[in-house]
Amino acid sequence: MNNTDAEHLIEMAKEARENSYSPYSNFPVGAALMTPAGEIYTGTNVENGVNGLSLCAERVALFKAISEGEREFEKLAVVCGDTFCRPCGACRQTLKEHAPDLTVIMADTSGNYEIKSLKELLPKAFGLDEA
Ligand code: THU
Repeated sequence: MNNTDAEHLIEMAKEARENSYSPYSNFPVGAALMTPAGEIYTGTNVENGVNGLSLCAERVALFKAISEGEREFEKLAVVCGDTFCRPCGACRQTLKEHAPDLTVIMADTSGNYEIKSLKELLPKAFGLDEA
């Protein structure tokens, strides 16, 4: 992972975070997902007054990219606030379906970050192919 990619993705995730619709949690999140060709798709969390209908930033970015025809993903940056942002379990499982070899950059809004593979974040994951 080169630092330039990580820092660029974090910047894009921070920008996406500014569009967060999170009046219930007041917890804005931004994500930026990069394809092998270097295309970047961003997402932010979009909440709903009906429990269960909110969507996380990571899945918004992923679904945007898939709906644009993308099928392969290399890197994801996530930014929440002043601590490193940890993708939730539902996002880890959803990302695993499309990008099992994904690199995940968990950042804070000051630009500090930690990098882990999705396999480290979701060990022994469920998959129909592995069942
Ligand atoms: N959230 C994300 O968007 N991504 C994460 O990885 C963790 C949580 C959102 C969901 C909800 O809108 C808010 O953060 C608080 O849980």
